[in-house]
Amino acid sequence: INNNVDVKKTMQSICDLLQSNIDTYNWVGFYMAHQSEPTLHLWSQAGIPTDHLVIPFGKGICGQVAVSNSNFVVEDVHAQDNYIACSIHVKSEVVIPMFKDGKNIGQIDIDSNTINAFNESDERFLEWINVQVATLL
Ligand code: SME
Repeated sequence: INNNVDVKKTMQSICDLLQSNIDTYNWVGFYMAHQSEPTLHLWSQAGIPTDHLVIPFGKGICGQVAVSNSNFVVEDVHAQDNYIACSIHVKSEVVIPMFKDGKNIGQIDIDSNTINAFNESDERFLEWINVQVATLL
């Protein structure tokens, strides 16, 4: 996939816009799959910066989505066993995979400080964003 500077700038703008305009979207980031290693890499983020720049496939909510190819809506992060905490304030999370030519190439990850913040409208909206971003990659 194309990882040129302009695409990353666009992805950063999307993170900034979502995080600053939607009250319940407290942290927004794009994790993208490495070309050869089974790891996700943080390309852009908005909100309190996370230390988790690289996440192995299978680990945490993000790593699980890298292998399941399915949306993961977490109503309450504290009820999850396989979860990587980025901030003590986070209460719910949604991770939506991004596909190009049928391949799971990464994901958008949103954290909320509100419990059960994400519904099906959020899923449809974030799926749409991922489709737009995938066309740039
Ligand atoms: N909570 C995620 C890790 C990424 S942070 O939310 C930014 C997970 O469990 O995979």
